[in-house]
Amino acid sequence: MPAPVLAAVVAHLERESRLGGYEAADAASEQVARTYVSVAELIGARPRNVAVVENATAAFALALSAFDFQRGDLILTSRNDYVSNQIMYLSLARRLGVEMVRAEDLPEGGVDPASLRALIQRRRPRLVAVTHVPTNSGLVQPVEAVGEICEAAGVPYLIDACQSVGQIPLDVGRLKCDFLSATARKFLRGPRGVGFLYVSDRMLATGAQPLLVDMRGAEWTAADEYTLVDGARRFENWEFAYAQHLGLGEAAGYALRVDVAEGGRRASELAAHARERLGGADGVRVLDRGPSLCAIVTAEVAKCDARAVVAMLRGRGINTSASLRGYALLDMDAKQAASAVRLSPHYYNTQKEVDAAVDAIAEIARSGCAG
Ligand SMILES: Cc1ncc(COP(=O)(O)O)c(C=O)c1O
Repeated sequence: MPAPVLAAVVAHLERESRLGGYEAADAASEQVARTYVSVAELIGARPRNVAVVENATAAFALALSAFDFQRGDLILTSRNDYVSNQIMYLSLARRLGVEMVRAEDLPEGGVDPASLRALIQRRRPRLVAVTHVPTNSGLVQPVEAVGEICEAAGVPYLIDACQSVGQIPLDVGRLKCDFLSATARKFLRGPRGVGFLYVSDRMLATGAQPLLVDMRGAEWTAADEYTLVDGARRFENWEFAYAQHLGLGEAAGYALRVDVAEGGRRASELAAHARERLGGADGVRVLDRGPSLCAIVTAEVAKCDARAVVAMLRGRGINTSASLRGYALLDMDAKQAASAVRLSPHYYNTQKEVDAAVDAIAEIARSGCAG
């Protein structure tokens, strides 16, 4: 987290300790309102279309819960959709008899818009859901092309932008999506435990609401009646981690000041540099595939479990993470990779740091994982 983000979170916790939760929230009400403005600006939306929720997973689940799926309804998705999203589709299939179909990938990787279009025409899905950038690779899926297709066909469209927000400029108008879910804690450089959901005017006008709406999302107007609140806030629930909320707002404002396009370009250049150098190291296999790649670099180190590599790198002060087969079953099996080390350079990293990480990985590979 950048210093102003951390300061916003800590200041609010201190406020809560002094004033108590309710008065602290009242005292911070202007900042709370600013969070919606900054997040909206970040994605080209209006504040009324933004709901602040616990995390990207919650945002995605809330969006799914807005559909009254019936047995036989189809959810059309991609092979690279995030693991938790895939499990949610499977859970809907198990519980409600919903059918889930994954569009074909392009030969070079990422969902094939033509396959998706053909499936939409043939099968009329209730919903199309696509993950912009998966958790386990630098692939950028063609979410804008998918948006064109969905809009032309009049099919609701949900984007998981968890890994793209903060590194790739997002504009919901161009993406033509009805829902977009995201988190604060990744390339946006916000705190953990907070995320947001964009809901389009079109979707709000249909009366869309989460399956279980609460007293924040609706007003109890008569014994057997409730009225939904006007905007996307009907997707929120009453209790908030206000410190995190303010951290999200500060992170969004910070990203706007840095400029996501500018910062993302630099992060992608660092990633491309890492990929090129890792590709030349013995025993290291770069796993990222796709016509468009971003600032996530994944590599398999021969004979090494990625968790062991991550631990060895951590010992050298290098922060990476491990992607396991179950995080992206279809993609990892297609690549015949059991696990991958994930490097996510951001604009504040230096090429020297990236080189140090690559050298360390190459050395671990040479040593046969002995560190
Ligand atoms: C593509 C993608 N979607 C969703 C999530 C879940 O995000 P959160 O932990 O904020 O729920 C992740 C987390 O890694 C992710 O990579």
